[in-house]
Amino acid sequence: MAEKLRIAVGSDHAGFHLKESVRDYLKKKGFEVEDLGTNSTESVDYPDYAVKVARRVAAKQADFGVLMCGTGLGVAITANKIHGVRAAPCNDTLSAQLARSHNNANILTMGGRLTDAATAEKIVDSWLATSFLGGRHARRVDKIYALDAPPSENKS
Ligand code: RB5
Repeated sequence: MAEKLRIAVGSDHAGFHLKESVRDYLKKKGFEVEDLGTNSTESVDYPDYAVKVARRVAAKQADFGVLMCGTGLGVAITANKIHGVRAAPCNDTLSAQLARSHNNANILTMGGRLTDAATAEKIVDSWLATSFLGGRHARRVDKIYALDAPPSENKS
């Protein structure tokens, strides 16, 4: 049997309720889920949680990450600082599908202030059901990777 997909989840206070709900949904679907916090609605700084999930994904200790803050934007901006991470804010199912098929995104971000739990489940399903198309998209993703490579490897 294929290995279970490992998914790391995290949020700040504004994404907390959505994170709890997405985490439980992913567990119910049988994935191996690691919850990297936060663990309450007490105010915290979203970069602290975004970087934890991003590092798990970059180190290939997780296959995907799901990050939530108020909008999904702050966590995406932060996660994209980590080499090898392609975090995509997706508050609708088509964005999730295209983030996987065209961008080979490895972290899905959503906004707890924008997206309800039922919509988030549909977004997650769309994300998980979609594979990277490769081909011309791989060439483009490789160009992104070259830009965010460590200075010694950066060819631009
Ligand atoms: C917190 O108030 C809020 O700024 C944060 O959750 C997020 O939306 C930032 O992008």
